[in-house]
Amino acid sequence: MGIAVWSEDLACGYELIDLQHRHLFALINTLDESLQKSIAKEELSLLLADLLEYTEFHFRCEEELMRSLDYPHLFEHRTIHEKLTKQVMDLQFRLRHSESVLAVFFDLSSFLADWLRHHIQENDIKMIHFVRRALKEKQAQVIGPVN
Ligand SMILES: [Fe+2]
Repeated sequence: MGIAVWSEDLACGYELIDLQHRHLFALINTLDESLQKSIAKEELSLLLADLLEYTEFHFRCEEELMRSLDYPHLFEHRTIHEKLTKQVMDLQFRLRHSESVLAVFFDLSSFLADWLRHHIQENDIKMIHFVRRALKEKQAQVIGPVN
């Protein structure tokens, strides 16, 4: 079992976002497994680049969803995304500028797994709750009263 364990209480109830979260968990586990072996710095750098690329893609999907439905906490939510993105970019920079792998990556996978679990529970579930309600209201407006 990997360090980032998916559980049903992390399901937001919006399939696209849930699938992306699961994929993020898988990427964190891959990173963790590599860190357990003594992996070359270049290889770690590629793994981190993959993780960063997918994370940015996922954040853009969430932000577009929030923007399209005028989510009132978009700014706050995006700020949290930006902070994490910057933290990972800083790590990438430190790794590139020849700090030792251990110094840069110590505890990274457990930090990311904890971050993701906390973010889903504290921010994403609340946001998706709003999204689902807003979509239902929109649908009701299009269809009109049934009878
Ligand atoms: Fe999010």
